[in-house]
Amino acid sequence: MTNETMMDKLVALCARRGIVFPAAEIYGGAAGFYDYGPVGVTLKNRLREFWRQEFILKMENVYEIESAIVLPRIVWEASGHLAGFTDVLVECKKCHLRLRADHLIQDTLNIVTDGKTLDELSAIINENNIRCPNCKGELTSAQKFNLMFKTHVGATESSESEAFLRPETAQSMFLDFRRIQDAMRAKLPFGIAQMGHSYRNEISPRNFLFRLREFEHLEIEFFIHPDQKNDVPDDLWDKVKDLEVLAHSIETQEKDTPPKTYKGYELFDKGVFTCKWLLYWTLASYKWLSRVGLDTNRLRLRQHMPNERAHYAADCWDIEFQYSFGWKELQGIADRTDYDLKRHAEFSGKILDYHVAEENIKVVPHVIEPSSGLERIIMALLESSYFEETWQDEKNEKQERTIFKFNSYIAPFQVAVFPLMGKDPLVERAREVCSILSHNSIWYVYDAKSSIGRRYRRVDEIGVPFAVTIDYQTLEDNTVTIRERDSMKQERYPIQELVEYFKTRIRYV
Ligand code: GAP
Repeated sequence: MTNETMMDKLVALCARRGIVFPAAEIYGGAAGFYDYGPVGVTLKNRLREFWRQEFILKMENVYEIESAIVLPRIVWEASGHLAGFTDVLVECKKCHLRLRADHLIQDTLNIVTDGKTLDELSAIINENNIRCPNCKGELTSAQKFNLMFKTHVGATESSESEAFLRPETAQSMFLDFRRIQDAMRAKLPFGIAQMGHSYRNEISPRNFLFRLREFEHLEIEFFIHPDQKNDVPDDLWDKVKDLEVLAHSIETQEKDTPPKTYKGYELFDKGVFTCKWLLYWTLASYKWLSRVGLDTNRLRLRQHMPNERAHYAADCWDIEFQYSFGWKELQGIADRTDYDLKRHAEFSGKILDYHVAEENIKVVPHVIEPSSGLERIIMALLESSYFEETWQDEKNEKQERTIFKFNSYIAPFQVAVFPLMGKDPLVERAREVCSILSHNSIWYVYDAKSSIGRRYRRVDEIGVPFAVTIDYQTLEDNTVTIRERDSMKQERYPIQELVEYFKTRIRYV
C-alpha cells in the first residue's frame, strides 16, 4: 500500500465511521482542528483511562491536576514561550501563502535544517530558487512566528489583559508545584500529571492528526532531587530494564550510522543515557505505547541533537513512530532541569523550592518530563491496527473486509450485539444481553439492521473484538453465538456465562 493511499484510506474510514473528522466540516473544515464522533471519543477515553491507570493509579506518587487553559502573559514570559516558542515562516509575495521554512526546504531539497539561523534559511531558499508551491511566486526572507494563540481577558484590551492559550499543559504543573506538594505532603521524587487540550497556531498543520492546532497533551512533570538523578528505585527499574529498544543517539546520528538495539539497562551502563530517571521515563513510556498496541517494529528512540533541543531542555529523547509518512516524533521525554521552577520563582517572587528533611537543606528540584500528544498516539494506533483481508468463503466466493485489530482493552467498543432479525422476541432477548453487558461495564454497540455479514463488516471496521448474535435457538436454549473479530471463529455460549467469558477475554494488557 502506498503512503498516500494508507493515509487517504484512514481519513475516509475515520470520517465514515464517526471516529474523527474535520471540525466545521459543513463549512469546508478548519485546518488543524478535528471533531471526534462517538467511536473516536470512546477510543480516546479508553486511552486516557489506560494512561491514568498506569502512570497515576499505579505510581502512587504521581498526582493528577486539571488546570486553566488561558493564562496571563507573565506566565509565558517566565516560561520563555513568548520569546522562544517560534517556528520560522516565509510568505509568498504574490498569493500570501505562509509556509514553514524548514518544511518547505525539506520537501523541496530533502535536507534537514534544524538549528539554522534565519539568514541561513533565507540563503538556502534563494540559492536554490525555491518558489511558492502554490503559484510559483517569490518568497519573503525567513522570519520568526510565535505559535501561541493570543487573546484578551475581560472587556478592555491592553497589555495587562493580554493572555495566551496554553501551548503545553506543563506550565501549570510548575505554577501549582508548591500547592500540590503542600496539599499532598508529597516527598521527592514525585510527579504532577495532567491531560488536557493545548493550542498551537501551527503555520502548516498537516498529515491528518499529526500536526494540529488543537490537540490533547498527556504530560507528567516528575520532580527529583538534583543530586539524585540516577536514584531510580529497584521496583520501578526492574519493570523496564530488560526492554529491548532501537536507539538513535547523538553519536549514531553524527556518524550517520543506523540506530542500535539495546536492552534498557545497557543504555545506562554504556552511557547512552546519562540520567537514569530520564531513561526510566523513556522506557516506561515506550512500554506503555507497546501495550496500547503500537507496532514495536515501528518504534524507536532518538536523541535530540544539541541545536534541536527546546530552550528549557538539557537532554531530550523522542520516541519516534514510523508513520506512513516517515519516522516522526510521537512523544518527547526531556530533562527540563530546574529551569521552569527557577524562572517562575524569579518572575512571581514566590519561593518554589523543596525542603529535604533528611539533609536539612533546600533544593530546587529538577524535572523529567514525558510529554505526548494523544492524537499522535491515535494516529500510530490506527496505522498499527489497520488491515485489509481477502479470502474465499465456503461457496468459493471472494470476501473482503477492512479491520482495526485493536486489542480488546483499548477497542472503543468491546462487544457488538446483533439480533438475527429485527423481530420482537429476538430484539427483546438482544436487549436483555445489552442490559447485562452495560451493568457489567462492558461497552457494546447494538445493530439490528441489514444482513449479519454486513453487520460483521461494519463492526470490524471500528475494531469491535467480539460480536454476539441472538437467533431462534437462543429462544429455545438461552445460548448465543460469539464471533471473534480476528479469527472470525464462532462458538455458542449460554447467556448466563457471557459476563464471565468477556471478563476473561477482555484483558487488561
Ligand atoms: N511540554 C513539552 C512539550 O510540549 P513538545 O515536543 O512540543 O513538548 C510534546 O510536545 C508532544 O506533544 C509531541 O511529542 C507530540 O506528541 C505532541 N504535539 C506537539 N505538537 C503537536 C501538534 N501540533 N499536533 C499534535 N500533537 C502535537
